[in-house]
Order: sequence, then structure tokens, then C-alpha cells
Amino acid sequence: MQRWNVDLNTTDWQTAPEASEVSAALLNGELVAIPTETVYGLAADATNGLACAKIFEAKGRPQFNPLISHVPALSDAREHGDFGPMSLALAEAFWPGPLTLVVPKKETSSISDLATAGLQTVALRVPEGPVMRFLSTKTGKPLAAPSANRSGKISPTRAQDVVADLESSLSFIVDGGPCEVGIESTIVGLTDAVPRLLRPGGIGRESIESVLGTTLQAAPSEMRQDAPSAPGMLESHYAPDAKVILNAQEASPSDALLSFGPDRLPGAESANAEFNLSKNADLKEAASRLFAGMRELDKSGANVIRVQFIPSFGLGEAINDRLRRAAAPR
Ligand code: TXA
Ligand code: MG
Repeated sequence: MQRWNVDLNTTDWQTAPEASEVSAALLNGELVAIPTETVYGLAADATNGLACAKIFEAKGRPQFNPLISHVPALSDAREHGDFGPMSLALAEAFWPGPLTLVVPKKETSSISDLATAGLQTVALRVPEGPVMRFLSTKTGKPLAAPSANRSGKISPTRAQDVVADLESSLSFIVDGGPCEVGIESTIVGLTDAVPRLLRPGGIGRESIESVLGTTLQAAPSEMRQDAPSAPGMLESHYAPDAKVILNAQEASPSDALLSFGPDRLPGAESANAEFNLSKNADLKEAASRLFAGMRELDKSGANVIRVQFIPSFGLGEAINDRLRRAAAPR
């Protein structure tokens, strides 16, 4: 891991050689810790599914929570999400700043399915922190970044917190000193008729309500941050229409097959449709292709998707968590 010290009181850092090196690392699918005004983010190219898989692996996340994508300006955000009068008003009032807006994802958005956990919505933020905006501009990519801590630990507001937790996963840490806000952004959901407070954070509810001229409703229980394993969580994630059967021992001609690894199940060649998550049994590759694979098999029209055994170590735990949710009775 390399360290790049940035003095945010100047703009000298923007022309330092490290600016190009960090940008190249991001374009190469590597992970970089980047300060924002709220907390340090564990950033990757949001359009690169493999790079996003590395984020989940590094954090040791038991599930694929959707990630926030950071962009330099509202005009960039509008390439990825549909903004209505309320989301526009909030963006104009608070961006750049500690506010994240969850809006319907545009069909044409380049943000990977893994960054949005297969949802048809996308979380977008224009941070005040200049390094994140600068690197998004320089790479020309939205940057997916959750807080740069291992899952279950508290969010890092200083570079040394990040290094302690994640050093081995990082190509670079950009050290911009302590974060000013120190708590994560407020997340507002604008995907149904009423605006919802999905997570309290750096901007108070009252300020948001006064711009909207209406009160923020509570998050539906399945999206509540304080109840991450609530059973309803299922509904907030992409669920295929087809029934999902885990740990299949063989394929069936009428069913679709989600395979994994070099050893094909008996009967695989006659399956209705097949998608191999990773022929090399690489869990990172499998994670990056999971949502796309389920979507494609669902489109095949098969009533049942059979899933080959996937081991539960490393990213396999998150993959299996996601598959169990997809297989749960509905
Ligand atoms: O201040 C922040 O927001 C920091 C900095 C780095 O920007 N980032 C951050 O990310 O806190 P993270 O991953 O720790 O929290 C993102 C939360 C997720 O837990 C998820 O529940 C919510 O945002 N989220 C993301 N996309 C969503 C979506 N499409 N629908 C509902 N919630 C979403
Ligand atoms: Mg977090």
C-alpha cells in the first residue's frame, strides 16, 4: 500500500504525480481509500463489477449491501439516476455535501449491478471532500465507496483508522487528515411517492424537510439500517421470478442452471439455459457476475433456476447469503 499525503488547504496535490498514479490504479480495478468530509471511503470504479467485488471482500461483508456511487456533480449523477422535482431540489440545496440520494437507476447507467446489489435504484452522492470529486473527474468514472472499515467496525475518520483495518487490501491511501463531519451522509430515498429518511447522517432531517416543504417518512422496515437482517430485507433486493434451488446435484432440461467452477453438473449441456459464474471457481469473479447471471437466467423464462454448490469462504459467504435470500419462500 502506498500513501499519498494531501494538504486540502491547497490545490497543489491536484498536479502531483500521485494524482495520475491513483487514477491509474482505480482504472485498473484496484482499491483506494479516499477521504471525504464524512468518513474515509473504500473506493473502486463503480462500473467495474470485479473491482466492486473487491470492496465486499476487503470489508468482509456478509451480504452485498448496495454501495453509494460518488460523482463530481449533479450533471454526472443525472447520467445514472432519474431525478424528479424533489431529488433535484435536494441536490441543488445540499450538493456538494453529506447527502446521498437514492433514485431510480437509469437503464443506460454504466454502474455495475454489484454496486447496486441488483436493485433498480441507485444511491448517488456528490461529496464536499474534493479528493473524491477530483478522482471521479480524472478517471471519468463514478466511484463506489462504502466507509473504509471492516464490516461491523466503526467508520474511519482518520487515515490511521483505515490503515489499521484495511492496509493489505489497498493500493493507495490518500491521507487528507481527519474528516470534518465524521459521520456518514444522510440517505434520502426518492423512489416512491413519498420521500424517506433511509439513514440519518451529516445533514439534519429538519434542513431536508424545509427544502422539501414536507416531512420525511420512515424507511420501510426492510431498508432500515438498524435492522440489516430483518426478514423483509429480501424485498429490497433483486429477486428473480424463477424459483431458486440451491446446491443442485444435477441439471434438468426444463430448468436454468447457475453453475460455478470447472466441473459441470450432470446434464448441464441439456439445461434450458446456463450461466457459469466463474469457470476458474474464482469467488471474486463469481460475485461480480452474480446479479447479471440471475437476471439473464430469469430472462430465459425457465420456472426454476438450479444453483451449483458454491463454497462459503471469503466472498462465498456473501454470495450464498444473497442466493439464500433469492431462494427463500415468497
Ligand atoms: O458518508 C457516506 O455516505 C460514506 C462516504 C464514504 O461517502 N459512505 C457510506 O457508505 O457510508 P456505506 O456503504 O457504509 O453505506 C451505504 C448505505 C448502505 O448500507 C445501503 O443500505 C444504502 O447506503 N444504499 C445504497 N444504495 C441503496 C439503494 N439503492 N437503496 C437503498 N439503500 C441504499
Ligand atoms: Mg458503513
